[in-house]
Amino acid sequence: MIDLSKTIDLSTTYLGLKLKNPLVASASPMCADVANVRRLEDSGAAAIVLHSLFEEQIEQESDELDRFITEGSELSAESVTHFPEMLHRVMGPDAYLAHIVKCKQAVKIPVIASLNGTTRGGWLGYARQMEQAGADALELNIYYVPVDPDMSGDQVEQRYIDLVKAVKAEVKIPVAVKLGPYFSSLSNMSKKLDAAGADALVLFNRFYQPDYDLEALEVVPNLILSNSHELLLRLHWIAVIYGQVRADLALTGGVHSATDVVKAMMAGARVAMMTSALLKRGISYLDTISTELLIWMGEHEYDSIRQMQGSMSRNAVPQPSAFERANYMKVLSSYAMR
Ligand SMILES: Cc1cc2nc3c(=O)[nH]c(=O)nc-3n(C[C@H](O)[C@H](O)[C@H](O)COP(=O)(O)O)c2cc1C
Repeated sequence: MIDLSKTIDLSTTYLGLKLKNPLVASASPMCADVANVRRLEDSGAAAIVLHSLFEEQIEQESDELDRFITEGSELSAESVTHFPEMLHRVMGPDAYLAHIVKCKQAVKIPVIASLNGTTRGGWLGYARQMEQAGADALELNIYYVPVDPDMSGDQVEQRYIDLVKAVKAEVKIPVAVKLGPYFSSLSNMSKKLDAAGADALVLFNRFYQPDYDLEALEVVPNLILSNSHELLLRLHWIAVIYGQVRADLALTGGVHSATDVVKAMMAGARVAMMTSALLKRGISYLDTISTELLIWMGEHEYDSIRQMQGSMSRNAVPQPSAFERANYMKVLSSYAMR
């Protein structure tokens, strides 16, 4: 039997990093545990993105520290017992930096740190600390929910641009920007982020909509893991943006099988990221995906991942209108004819 891994080249590049394959574990608490990070490497992940360090965690730490310093208090055993939550917050960012160091010692694959926030401020200094701790790259997750009716689309976009520029000014390592799909012109926004220095765009953040608890009359958080249907929105926009920006494109959201990975590559992604699939099926599922990817490529006579990348982007397909309004009309009428 032919060993497909010897004849098929799964390698790709992302953020200037050479990766053995396009399978990346996206940011989640899974990567908060060094043992899991090792398991991810053993199961074939080519890189990992650590869970995010949030602006709020950092700002809270600074505030708490300021208070401790000005009041001359210190963390006594008693305050730890009484304020375990506060200790957690105070420890958060430092523990995060220590975690980067531990992960770098534990695995050979690139470790991408994740910084999550929406405003310019002192917390952005952690980008440099993450670099100093050994992170190979940074993912800046801008999860911004504009609820102020006096804030214009331009102002929202400028916030993203300013953040990207501020982080780029802090570090020399590559910076990926993770964003949601809700922009009036995503193509234009991608170009602006590209011009601001983003080395990759990670498409897309999932928008976690809260639900209502009707008995308690409360708004409750609601986290449902994804399925492959969520892939389509990502495929669409990656296929459209591919070739329009210098930044690499990464797909996150809805990757659950080897064929999902193939589709991501064909649309134009450099890497396909996964969280829900691994939370549902376990980390070793990565191994199954790599094997199935090799089998699929062998059967369809592909020699390399690179050969696929962008091969079904908007500009590469015979009918680019498939990504535009014409397709919408076709989809609606095809349903009516059933
Ligand atoms: C439990 C959980 C925790 C997550 N934590 C983070 C996080 O800390 N930072 C981040 O950028 N994304 C986070 N995500 C989003 C994932 O990285 C990913 O983008 C999203 O789940 C879509 O990919 P999937 O369909 O493969 O799950 C989290 C997702 C889940 C399910």
